[in-house]
Amino acid sequence: MSYVLINGEIVERSQAKVDIEDRGYQFGDGVYEVVRIYNGKPFALSEHLDRFYESAEKIYMKIRYEKMELEKKLLSLLNIENAGTCSLYLQYTRGTAFRNHVIPSELEGTLTAYILHGSQGRNTSLMEKGISTILAEDTRWLHCDIKSISLLGNVLLKHKATMAGCAEAILHRGSTVTEGSATNVWMIKDGVLKTHPANNLILNGITRQKILTVCKRNGIPVEEKAFTVSELLNADEAFISSTTLEITPIISIDGVKVGNGSPGELTRTLHNLFVKFIEEECQTTL
Ligand code: PDD
Repeated sequence: MSYVLINGEIVERSQAKVDIEDRGYQFGDGVYEVVRIYNGKPFALSEHLDRFYESAEKIYMKIRYEKMELEKKLLSLLNIENAGTCSLYLQYTRGTAFRNHVIPSELEGTLTAYILHGSQGRNTSLMEKGISTILAEDTRWLHCDIKSISLLGNVLLKHKATMAGCAEAILHRGSTVTEGSATNVWMIKDGVLKTHPANNLILNGITRQKILTVCKRNGIPVEEKAFTVSELLNADEAFISSTTLEITPIISIDGVKVGNGSPGELTRTLHNLFVKFIEEECQTTL
């Protein structure tokens, strides 16, 4: 049986219904989060919820549940689902109204949350072997800091990667690398990590933020500084980060090997430190 948290209530999935005129369905007018659950324990739930409320505010939408209340409901859902290691999806849309671009002033938003099927377990084989990627012009809008459910730009770019037999598209605006279609992108040169600064051109990943913390704690030099495509192609190591893929090495870009074409040393060390960090935060063993 699978359950859905819908507008404050936990019901069987078949009972969860959303109106066809929900603005999320028609306009992609809403925000979302994906939270990783390790052995039933959510990782960085508070930070994900903060970003959820911030994204909502950026699109002039007020989430009608307090953070504490929402957190409690999500924990109940995990409990009912007897969640192990998986991903929790939550979204909030502006709600149901006659189709009109104008944002209605008074509307009850639609909250839904459930466990993503197919997210069970960690994809350790990918994390160990690394991924091949392509480069693609970042054709998305200029509000990439908002975790919006309008993901068509990202979906088309991911499709380009898939068609090329690759796992991710590394996006660039002109010569500047921004992020991946569903991940943040990092490069390493001479022992120094670099990743795009958190502005409107990227999503400030929670994993990204936690990696910065881990680097600081362990004295690993890191710069939040934009880098170019040619710098990336000359990097010693590169990796992507996200809630589901943690730290996954990039082994090739457009068919060109990164470093010697196998996952980098520092990337591996950092991932081990990151796993330890998760274990401490979630008080569990991965
Ligand atoms: N993707 N950049 C983009 C465009 C993303 O979609 C994501 C996450 C990230 C990494 O953010 P975080 O570390 O908070 O997961 C960066 C999620 C997992 C998704 O849409 O499935």
